[in-house]
Amino acid sequence: MTPLPETHRALVLTSTSQPPEVKIIPTPQPTPGSAVVRIEAANIISYSKHIYNGTRPYPFSLPLVIGTSAIGRIAALGPDSVSLKEGQLVFIDSFVRARDDEDAAFLFGVHEGHTEAARRLMRGEWRDCTYAEYAKVPLENCYVLDVEKLGVGVEELQDISRLLVPYGGLRDIDLKTGESIIIAPATGTFGSAATKLALAMGARVIGVGRNLEALKELQTSYANDRFEIAQITGDVPTDLKTLQTFGTIDAYLDISPPEAANSTHFKTCMLALRKGGRVSLMGGLKGELTIPVKVVVSKDLRIRGKWMYERQDVRDLIKMIEVGVLKLGGQTVEKFGLDEWEAGFDKAVEFGGSGGKGSAIIVP
Ligand SMILES: NC(=O)c1ccc[n+]([C@@H]2O[C@H](COP(=O)([O-])OP(=O)(O)OC[C@H]3O[C@@H](n4cnc5c(N)ncnc54)[C@H](OP(=O)(O)O)[C@@H]3O)[C@@H](O)[C@H]2O)c1
Repeated sequence: MTPLPETHRALVLTSTSQPPEVKIIPTPQPTPGSAVVRIEAANIISYSKHIYNGTRPYPFSLPLVIGTSAIGRIAALGPDSVSLKEGQLVFIDSFVRARDDEDAAFLFGVHEGHTEAARRLMRGEWRDCTYAEYAKVPLENCYVLDVEKLGVGVEELQDISRLLVPYGGLRDIDLKTGESIIIAPATGTFGSAATKLALAMGARVIGVGRNLEALKELQTSYANDRFEIAQITGDVPTDLKTLQTFGTIDAYLDISPPEAANSTHFKTCMLALRKGGRVSLMGGLKGELTIPVKVVVSKDLRIRGKWMYERQDVRDLIKMIEVGVLKLGGQTVEKFGLDEWEAGFDKAVEFGGSGGKGSAIIVP
């Protein structure tokens, strides 16, 4: 076993009104139930900049080594690890759950969750995240990546994190091969991931958005006969007519940003569903949403919310890549060192809403 260095470099946030700083701090040590991972590529969310400068006020306690999901190699293991091995390449899942209560969950480095128990977990044992040379991670959040089976490298594998989010919603509403699903907005970072996943799952996708050019660009890049597009104008009767031209629609997944809360597309998409249609609401909306209750009732619509995904979804998504049903790649990946975090955050903003054309990653 190669000993861990005594100290390492990490991007530390001490206040949302001050920029984070690269600091030299003690290297995390493996404790029971954990692995210490040497980070190779950590994702940057399109709105990371706004989370850490406080303009998208996510709850977390400071100081914090910031970060999110990542790809890395196991550097050291807690004494109770029985299967992971040092040197293995792993995907670090940022959705951390308490071992004695799966409902106490938080987003590593990003959001301390919705319960006091989740807050306690992130404020204590799992405070420090992946924008660092090393990160201590719960054993069960490390998923082994067999590069030979997967056939791609770290630059492609970093996209697992983006794809996993809408996969959680698609699985939750049990999307089936041959079904038709609306994805809205299809042009966003996660919307384009949802589109890619739903196509890989054998569905027909109707990609909805405001920007026809962006929709057309996405359609060209996915080049799949099962991917159709529909521009929304904001006028419900007009947009409903457009969606009705696609015939029976079984499901609708929405992953809108906060500023879309007053958009009419939620109503239009629900009205376009068949009897018994399913809805997955995944967007982080500001405020409340008006639901067309009469139609929801008369058509037996089932509306579900979904935060992230289940553990099994992570394993299944990796399998989809291993057997080639889900192809990674085709994205521009821009890498930034820890000291270049600001340029990385700006690049991620630029890639936001671009149909997943590119990713910015931190390479510590
Ligand atoms: N449930 C979960 O577990 C989970 C996890 C992660 C993220 N999220 C949520 O996912 C949301 C989307 O993130 P993202 O990274 O995909 O965002 P993004 O890349 O910025 O894309 C957002 C898309 O929304 C559309 N849009 C923007 N303003 C709109 C408006 N006023 N009305 C209608 N459409 C509008 C834009 O499409 P057009 O301009 O082409 O119309 C854009 O492509 C986040 O805000 C977050 O809350 C949820």
